[in-house]
Amino acid sequence: MNDISQRVSSHFSEQFGAKPLLVRAPGRINLIGEHTDYNNGFVLPAAVDHAIFFAIGKSEDAARCSLISLDFDERYDFDLAEIEPLAADSWQNYILGVVAEIQQSGREVAGFNLVFSGNVPRGSGMSSSAALECGTCVGLNELFGLDIPKVEMVKMSQMAEHNYAGVKCGIMDQFASMMGARDQALLLDCQSLEYRHFPIELNDYSLLLCNSNVTHSLASTEYNVRRQQCEAGVSILQKKFSNVSSLRDVRMEQLELVSEQLEEVVYRRCKYVIEENLRVHEFTAALTQSDLEKAGKILKSAQQAMRDEYEITCPEIDFMADFANAHADVLGARMMGGGFGGCTLNLIKKGREAAFITVLNEAYENQFTKEITPIQVNISDGVSLIKG
Ligand code: GLA
Repeated sequence: MNDISQRVSSHFSEQFGAKPLLVRAPGRINLIGEHTDYNNGFVLPAAVDHAIFFAIGKSEDAARCSLISLDFDERYDFDLAEIEPLAADSWQNYILGVVAEIQQSGREVAGFNLVFSGNVPRGSGMSSSAALECGTCVGLNELFGLDIPKVEMVKMSQMAEHNYAGVKCGIMDQFASMMGARDQALLLDCQSLEYRHFPIELNDYSLLLCNSNVTHSLASTEYNVRRQQCEAGVSILQKKFSNVSSLRDVRMEQLELVSEQLEEVVYRRCKYVIEENLRVHEFTAALTQSDLEKAGKILKSAQQAMRDEYEITCPEIDFMADFANAHADVLGARMMGGGFGGCTLNLIKKGREAAFITVLNEAYENQFTKEITPIQVNISDGVSLIKG
């Protein structure tokens, strides 16, 4: 047990007079493969040692539930028969969404109490929402002996995000939070959901996240727009190539053949996705050959493509990535996650992190009058029950 799990556990016991079940659900990083998941493509995420901790137990009333967020300092009570999404951006939606998905699958959930707190920075592109969904799902599964297979819990958590948070996300974040393993990334095929653990050995280099501390309010709207633009591209490609069911099936030569029928913006979105899928394979090949210079170059091109073709970066992120990509100790840097803010992921020489953070922060503060927050992460296991 660490400090946070102890805190949720004792708060639970004080409030509800019982000993809870404890669950840890991690956030994730993504090495490469952004916005490829909902296009049935490839991603390379990993669960990390920043997590949300849950204390959960049955309530005395079979129909009433209480949720307590220690970090928001809020309590929410509800009736199981009357679950509905609350206002956009409410933390409750991620939990309510999971309960609704479990109910819809025909399984029975009775009244429960839940206390949670964590250290996954919100809006940083590290998927605190997936951690909240996956931890809730695993907690309820255990509490009520539901026996839901892990992959089904991943899908339920993803659907909670679609139906209750209104973001038509792919499956990467929930998959990584649930299936992660220590020191291993997951090379996931988002079409078949086949995956393999991929060891991350960076020799003299390390991964450093720098949080821009920008969270863009347009993120969820623009996210859904990107998804629609990809679908628009697929529907035109399908008319010429009958084997195409998603951008995963498309080669650049095929895209070129229909380019005149595509709106310019749709062309650029499709080009980005096709090339980002290729980058995932090039990146894993570079790591396998311990060619970190090459891996760094791939991160740089991914950043450029997210900026110019998929248009999901923002001035603060571009500034941070350009600064890092021109720095002698950084092999490559790119924005990580859904976009419009959050963190950059930097492949940086070991031992040079502190000096780099100082100069980056100085330049960033001069330009934007706000600070970056460095985040050190270690690759960790996926969701787990904690022995009390
Ligand atoms: C968000 C979504 C994921 C994925 C990434 C971008 O994190 O939840 O499904 O699409 O953005 O790669």
